[in-house]
Amino acid sequence: MSFDLVLFGGTGDLTWRKLIPALFQAFRHGKLPEGGRILAVARDERSDAEYREYIRDKFAGVDEAKQPSADEFARFAERLHYRRMDLSKPEHYAGLKQWLDERGADTVVLFLATSPYLFPAICSQLGAAGLNGPHVRVVLEKPLGHDLASAQEINRVVAAAFREEQALRIDHYLGKPAVQNLMALRFGNALFEPLWRRESIASIQITLAESIGVGTRGDFYDGTGALRDMVQNHALQLLTMIAMEPPPSNQADAIRDEKLKVLKSLKPFTPETVGRDVVRGQYKAGTIAGRQVAGYLDEVKVPAGSRCETFVALRTEVQNWRWAGVPFYLRTGKRLAAHDSQIVVNFRPVPHPIFPGTSRANQLVIKLQPEDGLELHLLAAKGSGTSEALSPVFLDLDFDKAFAAERVGGYERLLLDAIAGRLNLFVRSDEQEQAWRWVEPVLDAWAADDTTGPRPYVAGSWGPPAASALIARDGCAWAEEQ
Ligand code: BG6
Repeated sequence: MSFDLVLFGGTGDLTWRKLIPALFQAFRHGKLPEGGRILAVARDERSDAEYREYIRDKFAGVDEAKQPSADEFARFAERLHYRRMDLSKPEHYAGLKQWLDERGADTVVLFLATSPYLFPAICSQLGAAGLNGPHVRVVLEKPLGHDLASAQEINRVVAAAFREEQALRIDHYLGKPAVQNLMALRFGNALFEPLWRRESIASIQITLAESIGVGTRGDFYDGTGALRDMVQNHALQLLTMIAMEPPPSNQADAIRDEKLKVLKSLKPFTPETVGRDVVRGQYKAGTIAGRQVAGYLDEVKVPAGSRCETFVALRTEVQNWRWAGVPFYLRTGKRLAAHDSQIVVNFRPVPHPIFPGTSRANQLVIKLQPEDGLELHLLAAKGSGTSEALSPVFLDLDFDKAFAAERVGGYERLLLDAIAGRLNLFVRSDEQEQAWRWVEPVLDAWAADDTTGPRPYVAGSWGPPAASALIARDGCAWAEEQ
């Protein structure tokens, strides 16, 4: 199958940090279909050879194991092309169309790796230039809007040029093997599903913790914050996969219909419940892995006195028969104690304990990163002959070890899916809008509150103490405090 993949924002951060390395991995793994061209477009003048040189230099910043040898790069680079485009000029789109039409590839994927503010203008121009035929797909990278109205506006313009199945909204978490395993765990195995409900599950925690700070992205991040950057998309997508009903099939819309129902069932926030059920924080200077790190306000390009949140913890509920009354806790932040993303499913304790000593409830830990696996925490008899008290033990499944050679990274998977037209792992417009609808009251309540602001936490900690108090109210504790 021949394809042309056009990367708008071809010299941008996302392209050289994530997309090109992912495409190279796909190439190295022999998964990038033969007959594919990758065309980077950006504003400045460069030849193909200059662009290839530019990308070769950028590979120096990639993990060593993922760097190409000279020979590999030479073969991969044959696929790379470059074209100067001023994205405001219709004639430049016409030129691009001509370049694509001359070859007439089976599939054209247009990846918008530009600032999202340009999406509406680019999509209208693509439509006007006729770059929206049935063999064309457009890929949109987050953030898709900064609130419901702006997301709807982007979707309106996209829908004027492309059909829904041509518009692929990326949430790179959905491309992670660990996240696909969530679907496998729930719907490929009969073991857990009968227990996957309020009668057996006491609470669920989703933690997306990063130890990195905002780096050099201070200006972007300050206009975004953790709620928009991580909760509206990644954390909510994980929640939908944990809470959704079994879909009738593995088809994209069957899955997305079920995810949408979960988003619609989330307990809506009011100004009062935001104060009670949502904690926002901002990191101060501290120590991470023995290294002193700056506070958020001292990061480059962060405006003085910023009230941007770098941490969010919240409690919500999925209001339906399966989950009524089960708290879902979501937590994410920068400069936390560890880089650790996981989902913890806390089962209810046995109804009538017969063994002496404390009885710990079972727990399923779904590890997303850096490790990718499952831990099932149980109690077992030691058989020591001296005590009948049970001891905690756990089953540990390491998917990285089990499937090492076959695993592919998030962007690699999503780019290959975009080329092949597999839509399961992309977010539909109604899901994305519903997620905005749910977070918006939190944004509004924070905007209206000019007294409290985010709570400080020390870099290298697990966030402000109020996050622990939030969950302690229900008699629970975050996984690391249990
Ligand atoms: C991005 C956010 O979507 O996800 C970043 O914009 C964040 O702020 C990143 O660091 C985390 O992704 P990953 O794959 O490193 O967990």
